[in-house]
Amino acid sequence: MNGDTNRPVPSREAPDAAAQAVTRGGPRVALADGAEGFRTVLRRARPADARAIAEIVRPYADKHILIGKDLITYFEDIQEFTVAEASGSQDRDRTGALIGCGALHVMWDDIAEVRTLAVRAEYRRRGVGQAVLTDLLDRARSLGLSRVFCLTFEVAFFSANGFREIEGTPVGTDTYYEMLRSHDDGIAEFLDLARVKPNTLGNTRMLLDL
Ligand SMILES: CC(C)(COP(=O)(O)OP(=O)(O)OC[C@H]1O[C@@H](n2cnc3c(N)ncnc32)[C@H](O)[C@@H]1OP(=O)(O)O)[C@@H](O)C(=O)NCCC(=O)NCCS
Repeated sequence: MNGDTNRPVPSREAPDAAAQAVTRGGPRVALADGAEGFRTVLRRARPADARAIAEIVRPYADKHILIGKDLITYFEDIQEFTVAEASGSQDRDRTGALIGCGALHVMWDDIAEVRTLAVRAEYRRRGVGQAVLTDLLDRARSLGLSRVFCLTFEVAFFSANGFREIEGTPVGTDTYYEMLRSHDDGIAEFLDLARVKPNTLGNTRMLLDL
């Protein structure tokens, strides 16, 4: 999307290619699942989406898979988010409801973090997370970044998207000390600071070279 909603999504193979649709010149219709006509429309998030994003994240935060944030933080960070809306015949009752989200948080001149990537449980394994991630990576490329970091339990998902496991913090000492000045908890996790260790327990540190 990179600032507007009018670019077609580079979608993955759908199980039934006939059911897949890409709208050109309109919102991005990302994918379809089987012949049921399930589709997802991706767009940049708006302030009015903040509460729905918080609701998507909440079950994962309750299980300590994602970090739950205060509503104010979602409003402040809303411009980092891409959201996925339900669309298509199977989801007529839910058309327009948010079913997935993800954010790209710039950390330095060459690196950003994919964070808060989440899909509602009943919509998982239908390509929604993949579509949101692809959009965030497109955005990272368009910003001139060369690396994308993530901290996750979903190692297979991110590996399938080219991420590799890393140890430590992939920045030089000077940058490390500059980053220490940040008040953002995600940056603290990236720097592996003791105060956020409980948040990151069991997570894998992963990096993608764009
Ligand atoms: C990670 C997450 C966003 C993936 O979303 P999704 O919509 O279920 O994923 P997709 O359907 O787009 O997956 C695309 C492909 O990735 C792979 N994949 C996805 N989840 C996987 C898993 N748990 N294990 C192995 N492979 C997985 C598969 O190859 C899948 O294709 P396939 O189902 O056709 O084989 C979702 O599982 C989620 O919300 N997890 C909880 C939050 C989280 O951990 N976020 C990441 C840290 S920010």
